[in-house]
Amino acid sequence: VSQDRIRNFCIIAHIDHGKSTLADRLLEHTDTVTEREMEEQLLDNMDLERERGITIKAQAVRMKYNTSDDVEYTLNLIDTPGHVDFTYEVSRSLAACEGALLVIDAAQGVEAQTLANIYLALEADLEIIPVINKIDLPSANPDRVKEELIDIGLDPYEAILTSAKEGIGMEEVLKKVVKQVPPPDGDKDKPLKALIFDSLYDPYQGVIAYYRVMEGSIKPGMKIKMMATDKTFKVEEVGTFAPTMQPTKELSVGEVGYVIASVKDVSYCQVGDTITNANNPADEPLPGYQSAKPMVFCGLYPVDGDDYEILRDALDKLQLNDASLTYEPETSEALGFGYRCGFLGLLHMEIIQERLEREYNLDLITTAPSVIYKVYKEDDEMVKVENPANMPERQYIDYIEEPFVKATIMLPDEYVGQGMELAQNRRGEFKDMQYLDEDRVKLVYGLPLSEIVLDFFDQLKSVTRGYATFDYELSGYREADLVKLDILVNKDPVDALSCIVHRDSAYEIGNQLTKKLKEFIPQQMFKVPVQAAISRKVIARQTIRAKRKNVLQKCYGGDVSRKRKLLEQQKAGKKRMKQVGSVEIPQEAFMAILEID
Ligand code: GTP
Repeated sequence: VSQDRIRNFCIIAHIDHGKSTLADRLLEHTDTVTEREMEEQLLDNMDLERERGITIKAQAVRMKYNTSDDVEYTLNLIDTPGHVDFTYEVSRSLAACEGALLVIDAAQGVEAQTLANIYLALEADLEIIPVINKIDLPSANPDRVKEELIDIGLDPYEAILTSAKEGIGMEEVLKKVVKQVPPPDGDKDKPLKALIFDSLYDPYQGVIAYYRVMEGSIKPGMKIKMMATDKTFKVEEVGTFAPTMQPTKELSVGEVGYVIASVKDVSYCQVGDTITNANNPADEPLPGYQSAKPMVFCGLYPVDGDDYEILRDALDKLQLNDASLTYEPETSEALGFGYRCGFLGLLHMEIIQERLEREYNLDLITTAPSVIYKVYKEDDEMVKVENPANMPERQYIDYIEEPFVKATIMLPDEYVGQGMELAQNRRGEFKDMQYLDEDRVKLVYGLPLSEIVLDFFDQLKSVTRGYATFDYELSGYREADLVKLDILVNKDPVDALSCIVHRDSAYEIGNQLTKKLKEFIPQQMFKVPVQAAISRKVIARQTIRAKRKNVLQKCYGGDVSRKRKLLEQQKAGKKRMKQVGSVEIPQEAFMAILEID
């Protein structure tokens, strides 16, 4: 394909504004797929994704488009994941493009995610084409959206009005892509540089890496090197997605496609890494590579200790496909053997948990999410603590730093008060407030990441009746007055219930947490005190009353044989419990911290 006939572009949008639907229509309009072949949403092809209605894995499709004067163009559409957890992946997909369609719902207008994506697209120097979608809706207000475009520095006259649902405006979109998006530059005769923007693991072919050729070309038989990991492989097959995999002889500068090279592990094909020719390597890799950095951690423990090996195998398998999932063995006095796992964010964490339970049939206890604290000790050593149970004793600590984020909240102006109150209660520092139009406001806050992982977004949605949108990026570490809150059940400390909280709210949290635990932990034959303590000093206490003896109820005391317990667990559906000392603690208790406000 001649370089000036290639256009590489992506679609960026806030969730539900119609990115996948628009992509589907473009594929149909270019006869890349027929309507009949079209699975409901071709670009979202994992069940879990479809169920949750979000796109997790970026992918690429090649389309052929003939202009009215019959010139054929090759258009590569690169799909981008639509969630804050995957910002880095989005940035790499954008780096593989020269242009972006910015899809905005004509009824909803610009939202936090839209803004975040625009900034990423501008950083990547992309030509942005605004697309105002869903104009078929009775509530559509394209003029209002155009005004918002002016506010964010885009030209409203460039906007294309579409209804992806009804297939309106597709020809115009393709025409604009050809006209506005610059062709790729780069030199075919230079050593190979290809940017990996996604990869997936196939049990038969190994890792399939998706990339954009930035310089040179790649073909079967070539020896390639991954510049970040310094690993070499022999290319078996290269090809494009049109929309299924089509092997080709060569992919040259500007093109987008896949490579199969007997790579056994996605960690050798990291998103953002540069593929080069091992025998004629590039001097330096493409800019912008970062190794995957998990931000949120939790403990995963099998309810049945015998499932430990299965859990390890399952994590091994999931990691083959997901280089940003980390895990290492961990033991808890309360929960036994398990793994401390790291995730890009809360959504990523939920997805992995769900897959473990569904695809591997595991019953798991998960502990509350935590972030990485930097603990500076008296002896000048710094330790990173990702499990609250491992926080050093207070007398050894000089000071603690926690991760901070810059958070952008967008909401209707009638909810500004509630939004600000919530952010302030979560130790937020006000940074900026702007009116986007008469009734929509953008708030910017500095917030501790730990406050966000504890259900911030859900609470924000509930105080704004679902109208607020939210986005964040890590801004660095800051010193904070933090303490470890221990929880004792029946006088025994339960390490897996420990959490790290700000000193000012420790009493309040201790109080509420013990109350919640009292709700969640079933009554035993004896009374059970539940206490919260800081450095062994009890600061809050609740008592779970004993069950009355004559009541015939299911008994979760320590006297039930293992078999019967399992049978009962099965009967009770997914009632996950873990025996801790003489008390059985259910899954909800480990997440109780998420439920206090
Ligand atoms: P994520 O993959 O979660 O980022 O969502 P998305 O942006 O891909 O949105 P998607 O294409 O899944 O569309 C979201 C919803 O809007 C679906 O129910 C679509 O049927 C609907 N939708 C998309 N385009 C239009 C449109 O032009 N008009 C109307 N009325 N509905 C649309």
